[in-house]
Amino acid sequence: MKTLQLTIITLFFLSTTLFVNGQVKTSMIEKRVDSVLALMTLEEKVGQMNQYNGFWNVTGPAPEGGAAQKKYNDLRKGLVGSMINVRGVDQVRAVQKIVVEESRLGIPLIIGFDAIHGYKTTSPIPLGEAASWDMEAIELSARVTALESAASGINWTFAPMVDISRDARWGRVMEGGGEDPYLGSEIAKARVRGFQGDDLSSVNTIAACAKHFAGYGFSESGKDYNTVDVGTSTLYNAILPPFEAAQKAGVRTFMNSFNDLNGIPATGNSFLLRDILKNTWKYEGVVVSDWGSIGEMIAHGFANDLKHAAEYAALAGCDIDMESSAYVAHLVSLVKEKKVPLALIDDSVKRILTLKFELGLFDDPYRYCDPEREKAVINSEENHQAVLDVAKKSIVLLKNDGNLLPLAKSGQKIALIGPLAADKNSPLGNWRLAADDNTAISVLEGMKEYPKNKLDYAKGVELIVGKTEFISEVNINTSDKSGFEQAINAAKKADKVILVMGEHGYQTGEGRSRAKLDLPGLQQELMQAIYSVNPNIVLVLMNGRPLTIEWAAENIPAIVETWHLGSQSGHAIAQVLYGDYNPSGKLPMCFPRSVGQVPIYYNHKSTGRPTIPAPNLVFWSHYGDEKNSPLYPFGHGLSYTSFLYEDLSISNDYKATAEIKVSVKIKNAGKVKGKEVVQLYLRDKFASVARPVRELKGFKLIELNPGEQKTVEFILGDRELGFYNNHGEWVVETGGFEIYVGGSSAATLQNQFELK
Ligand code: NOJ
Repeated sequence: MKTLQLTIITLFFLSTTLFVNGQVKTSMIEKRVDSVLALMTLEEKVGQMNQYNGFWNVTGPAPEGGAAQKKYNDLRKGLVGSMINVRGVDQVRAVQKIVVEESRLGIPLIIGFDAIHGYKTTSPIPLGEAASWDMEAIELSARVTALESAASGINWTFAPMVDISRDARWGRVMEGGGEDPYLGSEIAKARVRGFQGDDLSSVNTIAACAKHFAGYGFSESGKDYNTVDVGTSTLYNAILPPFEAAQKAGVRTFMNSFNDLNGIPATGNSFLLRDILKNTWKYEGVVVSDWGSIGEMIAHGFANDLKHAAEYAALAGCDIDMESSAYVAHLVSLVKEKKVPLALIDDSVKRILTLKFELGLFDDPYRYCDPEREKAVINSEENHQAVLDVAKKSIVLLKNDGNLLPLAKSGQKIALIGPLAADKNSPLGNWRLAADDNTAISVLEGMKEYPKNKLDYAKGVELIVGKTEFISEVNINTSDKSGFEQAINAAKKADKVILVMGEHGYQTGEGRSRAKLDLPGLQQELMQAIYSVNPNIVLVLMNGRPLTIEWAAENIPAIVETWHLGSQSGHAIAQVLYGDYNPSGKLPMCFPRSVGQVPIYYNHKSTGRPTIPAPNLVFWSHYGDEKNSPLYPFGHGLSYTSFLYEDLSISNDYKATAEIKVSVKIKNAGKVKGKEVVQLYLRDKFASVARPVRELKGFKLIELNPGEQKTVEFILGDRELGFYNNHGEWVVETGGFEIYVGGSSAATLQNQFELK
């Protein structure tokens, strides 16, 4: 046995040194994969398709009973191909050693982890980063996550989540790129590049995972894990594009979603996994189930028992079973009973082994396990600088009446109030499994870096009662107002009040849906009490989803959206409040006025009755008690300067060049340098399938000095002009189009052209 194992490893080592370029590498890997496959028993093949959690209960419910011993035994028997939630070079080395030295073939494990927005050094939540519209910054942030994860023994992250969502009730909006498929696709590519780099075998890169395939962001009523019922147009034009973009960017793995899509659970959905992903898109990477989602097909009412569920999943194209133990228990018999063809098992195993070769694990199973590297890379100064940079870029200035911001740097009395003002934990956000609690820079700490103002801090009110943790519900304080008085007194004496409010980091994320989107607990009451004694308030929002803040939008002069910004949160926020960084973030999701408007999104259809036909008539698409428009539209975000848009021109030579050129002039009309995200929206006026009232089809981030003007150009080709029809075919249709360019989805500068 031992001789066989050593022979294989030597062979692999030789093969990896022969790589000359991508082509050679691919064919060499194919050969090596085939040679390993030829040595494997059916049990060992199925073992590669089995993934176990580490030996504790971290990101989902763990199977009942003495699982640890069974897991050790299965590792020894070669019945485990990958693990999740094992981290740190010592732990990873320990599990790797078991399979390499004690299993028959010594095939190394892939080590996966939810490094979603950072590892120890935490980046802003992905929804926050999306607000930067800065693809280089987003890529760099993912690179930092990859660097630290890889240094800690991990070689696979379950990110990026590329689920489009129009529903802020869904807690996982914090993990995605927002509501728009175009922006979402650009972000998907940037994050895949950041995690995977150019060479997956480098010790600085890790495999990425596009998830959750598909439809998870459309869960009915925003309730996590809920059913998804969408038509072809929404599936193809809104849900699938970021996945396809990730696939084209070379993402090595996909994860299926928990939900059922039109009645078929995604885990056993061969239309999604087999027809679209593996056949139409010709995806050659690995598909992993979500945690326990194979077994959950029983609760869905789709599979009769675990064996039946394993059959469905394997036939559909799910290559790895995460924590259902369905494959390891039943796939061998399913093959023997001819219910699952051996060819499908071979196909899955080849995909998994290929990834192991690409990660360089056969070359050196311990390549991600260097303790010196772990010490040097984790929490390095460089990493903190990188996340600080993206944190600043993610902040969105929602409102700034009377130029209350930026704050003067001296001679001011500032009252800093709110349950999140000194919080060092919430800014770390939801998915920060490896980060140490209470390690974020708080707003209080950030503000103290500007010592020439007098700073008076009062918490005002507790947001949460009791402890908070990743897996449990949070308890909101709804009765204790004992801190109000001190906060009100501080506000009375201040020139300006900075109010830091929003959601605890554990109020968004998986399993964290909300039916109400207001400021939770007693925060609204405290805000109004403070306002009654001092209306010079800057509201600093810290939250993981759009909130309904209509009262604040009407009454509070300045509002800054800071999301959960990660390790460097307080520094980033203080630099924006004091004008050392001019904000340029733009909302990646609409802010609703009230929950009843949800799902609300800018790229909705027109309907047959879009406008009021005559005053007071009810027969149009509207609410009797609420406006149709959002409180803040998609793409909205202010700056400490202002930008003038003019001369929107179009050169229509589509027939000759298959592209339309659009150009527009933007001028910085204010007194400070600023960045602007120039956004282009398109409306296809009529089509064989009704198109949205406008759709983002291009954006450019530019920087302008005061008085400076720049011309920005966009090219619209087939990708921008076409859409998927109801047969899932990409079509570009002739007819009239309108173009809108500006600083948000409510842009009014308009032009049009005809596609002949
Ligand atoms: C469940 C989540 O839906 C998924 O995103 C995550 O990667 C897995 N758990 C593993 O923790």
